[in-house]
Amino acid sequence: MDDLKKVYVECKQFINGNGPRNISILTEAFEDLDTNISSDMYGQGAWIDAFQEELAREAGKEAGVFFPSGTMAQQIALRIACDRKKIYSIAYHPLAHLEIHEQDGLKKLHQIKTILLGDQERLLTLQDIKSIEQPISCILIELPQREMGGYLPDYADLVEISKYCQEKGIHLHLDGARLFEVLPYYKKTLQEICVLFDSVYLSFYKGIGAVAGAVLLGNHNFCKEAKVWKRRYGGDLISLYPYIIPANYYMDRRRPLMETYYEKAKDLAALLNKIQGVATYPQIPVSNMFHVSIEGSREKLTEALVKLYHSTGIGFTNNIKEKVGGQCFFEVSIGDALLKLEDHEIDNFIKEFDELLKNNK
Ligand SMILES: Cc1ncc(COP(=O)(O)O)c(C=O)c1O
Repeated sequence: MDDLKKVYVECKQFINGNGPRNISILTEAFEDLDTNISSDMYGQGAWIDAFQEELAREAGKEAGVFFPSGTMAQQIALRIACDRKKIYSIAYHPLAHLEIHEQDGLKKLHQIKTILLGDQERLLTLQDIKSIEQPISCILIELPQREMGGYLPDYADLVEISKYCQEKGIHLHLDGARLFEVLPYYKKTLQEICVLFDSVYLSFYKGIGAVAGAVLLGNHNFCKEAKVWKRRYGGDLISLYPYIIPANYYMDRRRPLMETYYEKAKDLAALLNKIQGVATYPQIPVSNMFHVSIEGSREKLTEALVKLYHSTGIGFTNNIKEKVGGQCFFEVSIGDALLKLEDHEIDNFIKEFDELLKNNK
């Protein structure tokens, strides 16, 4: 464990996230449950059925399938879309999770080719989609574009993209790993976003903060096929309730707080942007997340943060990444942790951070 990680785990309070990801996440969710509730068996049972159906209904989709991971759910969604058209080519943003975090699963397991739309500095547009020359079966859009810091297209642009894809018979899939988190910015319901897409993936351990798990939503036939693929992938665990029960529990608690997380993210970004050499991306967040970019090396920032954590007992991040041009950055994702801090504690933290960065040059 490096220095930053060591000091971070000893912090008592945090800026980022919903608090430490320890096993209390699981035990809290089960605390008041009747132990006689039957477990689900291979994708069937009261809990899993109700959970899938309720989300599908709320999103305006015919059906839903619970998966142990989004990685599995999305590769399967794209494979089904390709099989339907017999075209094994899809398009998405260069920073899509599938492109940079899944060890080429889509390409190695399914021989699906990927076309990268737009570039790393901006979101993909309808123009990018219209400029694709070769046949494709599917386009994936990620809301928000996480690896850029969490940017979002306008709702009107999504509507245009959706119309175009429908006209051209292109399957439009939503990577909604953080979809609950962006609803306050769009001021839209889950359904108003999901109806624009043929299939949707949602996650339960990002802003929702449960143990793990995902749901794939679509029409009946799509979900029927997705269940077969889930079996092929080894994702049809005999029981998935250890994931579903916490997902359900934390959705009830945290979905009503998404607006607060978003407002807090904007407030915090505004404070950070006042520090010289610090900038957030987006400058004004459009969800609970953003990137903090800082002039100077990773080593220098690590030094400053170790001192900051020692003096305040408040952790900010344990994961700093290098950027080109002598900068580094880290991701911020606001949840319950920040709500536990008083305003004066946050102000003091920012003031000390500012001073440490000045003295650390
Ligand atoms: C945007 C996005 N899509 C997909 C995934 C994959 O989710 P999972 O970890 O459940 O496989 C992630 C996980 O971080 C993500 O951030």
